[in-house]
Amino acid sequence: MPETFTRQTLIVKTSFSEVWHAKDASGIPVVVKIALNDGATARRLRNEIEALIEAEGPSTMPVLEFDAVDYSWYMMPVAAYNLAHAPGVKDVTLGIHVVEAIEEALHNLHGAGRPHRDLKPQNILWLEVDGEGRWVVADFGIIRNAPGTTTASLTVEDAFLGSLGWAAPEQHSNPHAATPVADVYAAGAIVTWVLTGKMFEDSNPLLPTDSAIRGVLQRALQRVPSRRYQTIAQFLEALRIASVAKPTTLEDLLRKKTFDRLGASILGDLSRADDAILALPDLNRDDSAAWLREAKSGLIESLTALCNGLSRNTSSLNFVDIDRFLIWCIDVLRVLTARAEHAEVEELATAVFEAIASLRQFKPGAEAVRWIGSLDRKSEIPIEHAVHASGGLAFFQEQARNKYASRVDSDLLKKLRRS
Ligand SMILES: Nc1ncnc2c1ncn2[C@@H]1O[C@H](COP(=O)(O)OP(=O)(O)O)[C@@H](O)[C@H]1O
Ligand SMILES: [Mg+2]
Repeated sequence: MPETFTRQTLIVKTSFSEVWHAKDASGIPVVVKIALNDGATARRLRNEIEALIEAEGPSTMPVLEFDAVDYSWYMMPVAAYNLAHAPGVKDVTLGIHVVEAIEEALHNLHGAGRPHRDLKPQNILWLEVDGEGRWVVADFGIIRNAPGTTTASLTVEDAFLGSLGWAAPEQHSNPHAATPVADVYAAGAIVTWVLTGKMFEDSNPLLPTDSAIRGVLQRALQRVPSRRYQTIAQFLEALRIASVAKPTTLEDLLRKKTFDRLGASILGDLSRADDAILALPDLNRDDSAAWLREAKSGLIESLTALCNGLSRNTSSLNFVDIDRFLIWCIDVLRVLTARAEHAEVEELATAVFEAIASLRQFKPGAEAVRWIGSLDRKSEIPIEHAVHASGGLAFFQEQARNKYASRVDSDLLKKLRRS
């Protein structure tokens, strides 16, 4: 079939085809992809044309005209740019739009067991028609035939098929058997690139830090195909959910006992300190011990910050709730002391004592004195430092004198009582 276009400038040439800027018969700019020679490469272009036509839709590169006799060329509208050169913000919204286009373009072909096998930013193009733009999937050059109908001569047995860095691992070992799940991997790689702007290092994706989206991408990028999302639609759904997931609340973290994030959550939003003061005393001693094991500094720093807030009178809670919290803090101090974490005991005890003394809270004061009375010699030194550093010495001396002496009273308590 005679060419109905005039070549203008070459965009890219590979061993298989050339892509040209051209003008169609009426002089309208188009892009044509031309098979380089007859035989195998022409059959390959025929596959590509037929797949593009089968996948026809708003998210597929349109075929305007093609050589219906020899399948040696096809014509498309001119795209503004490809995803690799997309201007503007690269965020999860862009990633979702691209995956939506992939889902729409490949849904039916995937249903027939046919992966595209070459999804990458350079093959996702931005088409603008009448001022309206959209992403389309292009370059169906190495799409897999329906399983069972493969013409082996088109592809060399066992040779890698795809684009390095984007293709799924199984396209290295057995590209002919690759399933649509291979495209889930590539889609995951594309979104990862959109979010980080970075290519892979040794096939290890550089994942974004946002934990919800990171988890989704991790799953899409599993090396073992069966561990990935099994369809683009599932990947897209998970991506959408992760993109709107609210930061986990303090209540969620407490309920799930996610201790490694609890401190950061409290410190990250001290305007909600009262909520933390109300909720934390629900944790029992085992919980405190677990928090201490999993995230010691998060525990010490967040409780210290909450007590400092109480000392500065920033809480609007009633005294019953504040008492409950301060008494719980003393319980945490008991757990800390039992583990001989002396530096941390001193830091936290200072903040707790300061809150108790500045608010002149009787019940926590009595509890503190009871605890001081039970200390062994090793633990007395940091607590004595804390009593002084808290500025509450007089208050604790007064509390100590009110406490009836028991047989096991510590030296520190006796000292406070005497002074
Ligand atoms: N319709 C088009 N409009 C503008 N640029 C195009 C168009 N089609 C292809 N290109 C450019 O040419 C490159 C190669 O085309 P493609 O169909 O992907 O062929 P190949 O099989 O050589 O990768 C694309 O990455 C894109 O940058
Ligand atoms: Mg290409």
